[in-house]
Amino acid sequence: MEERKEKRIIMFPLPFPGHFNPLVQLARIFHHRGFSITIIHTSFNFPDPTHYPNFTFRTIHHHNEGEEEEEDPLFKPDGSGMDLVTFIRQLREGYADPFRTSLKAEVGGGERACCLVSDVVWGRTTEVAAEEVGIRRMVLTTSGVASFCAFAAYPLLRDKHYLPIQDSRLDELVTELPPLRVKDLPVMETNEPEELYRVVNNMVEGAKSSSGIIWNTFEDLERIVLMNFSTEFQVSVFPVGPFYKHSENILPTTKNKEDHVTTDWLNKQDPRTVVYVSFGSLADIEEKEFLEIAWGLRNTKQPFLWVVRPGMVQGTEWLESLPCGFLENIGQKGKIVKWVNQLEVLAHPAVGAFWTHCGWNSTLESICEGVPMICTPCFTDQRVNARYIVDVWQVGMMLERSKLDRKDIEKLLRKEMGEEMRESCLKWKDRANVCLSKDGSSSKYLEKLVSHVMSFDSYAFAS
Ligand code: UDX
Repeated sequence: MEERKEKRIIMFPLPFPGHFNPLVQLARIFHHRGFSITIIHTSFNFPDPTHYPNFTFRTIHHHNEGEEEEEDPLFKPDGSGMDLVTFIRQLREGYADPFRTSLKAEVGGGERACCLVSDVVWGRTTEVAAEEVGIRRMVLTTSGVASFCAFAAYPLLRDKHYLPIQDSRLDELVTELPPLRVKDLPVMETNEPEELYRVVNNMVEGAKSSSGIIWNTFEDLERIVLMNFSTEFQVSVFPVGPFYKHSENILPTTKNKEDHVTTDWLNKQDPRTVVYVSFGSLADIEEKEFLEIAWGLRNTKQPFLWVVRPGMVQGTEWLESLPCGFLENIGQKGKIVKWVNQLEVLAHPAVGAFWTHCGWNSTLESICEGVPMICTPCFTDQRVNARYIVDVWQVGMMLERSKLDRKDIEKLLRKEMGEEMRESCLKWKDRANVCLSKDGSSSKYLEKLVSHVMSFDSYAFAS
């Protein structure tokens, strides 16, 4: 741990695990480098601060001052089963003013605040507030560079009529963004298609006008797209990832009973035999898809560990749509749980493959633990990540969501991941470690990032 710098970094995560987890990992890195950390967090999904004793938390509420905060029916705990585009708009509208007030109070008092690091999806929401109080603003991009470039290309994709996506063109190569095909473009289903364009545009513009972009990726993995990005955009970039692998990011030691049961079960499996299945913290699936996956897993010989979040299967609470006797029939061969400590699971020697929705954190974690992937992307950046996993990094196979069928699943899982793919995974794992080593790119970028932040003078914009 470095000497305290008497400088405070204020951070503003988007309140979902896929965004909050990497932000906290980055906060740990900053803290280790001597900065104090304040996290301004929405009342929606507010975390338990006792798990983060080194940080100061501030809550912002989306109700009007003086009014009782009502439970907004849209603000469900994990965001599943809802229109995410609408939801992001509501988050931005509901929390913009409270954020501004909170930021003002933070910057005004106590230890010197040198910079704001906000999730890139907040877009320009945080820009005005930062300018008002005279604090420099950096953004944290929790997705990869390749997908960000595809978001940044939205105007071009619309001009060239790739967007909105037409079913007749799904397999067509997007020549401006190889190796992406039309079906890989980062879109999502929404009742507010124009709002999706606004969210994306706001995010890209907010990143361009920031004092720098911090990326949870490493240079070797996304070298070409990083170069393309830097040619096109005049903003400093800091690919210092994978955050969780920095030595100061010690894995949480608090384990609940279920974690222990999962580890005990994994300990009983043969090396590299278990298929770990998880679709992250937001994606939901139809009951029909759920049943195909369930039967596919049951019919294969592989042991499996499957995360089914409550509410993840549309219209159900948890597992009640499984046929009677299904769970008993699986016996010890498979395990279905509500949540796991994913980093521990992926690092376990029994795990041989990860069937994933290809969220960026999952993608990076799997690559860094050397585990090949089966890719079933659901929306936005996951589609881009999946294409890169399969075609560029060659560490996974595609199993498209539109083709989820129990027989195909069974066949694919039986096939297992060949030695070639495993070797490719281990190669990337090594390269991640090289980037993180003392003279590696992520370490060098981290040094640059610390100097960059130290060079900020708060009140730089103050009138
Ligand atoms: C979303 C997007 O899909 C992702 O691409 C974007 O960059 C961030 O927001 P999410 O869908 O939740 O995130 O997926 P992912 O990025 O993979 O993040 C999930 C996180 O939750 C990972 O850090 C994973 O380790 C963790 N997790 C997931 C668990 O710890 N346990 C679980 O059971 C499932």
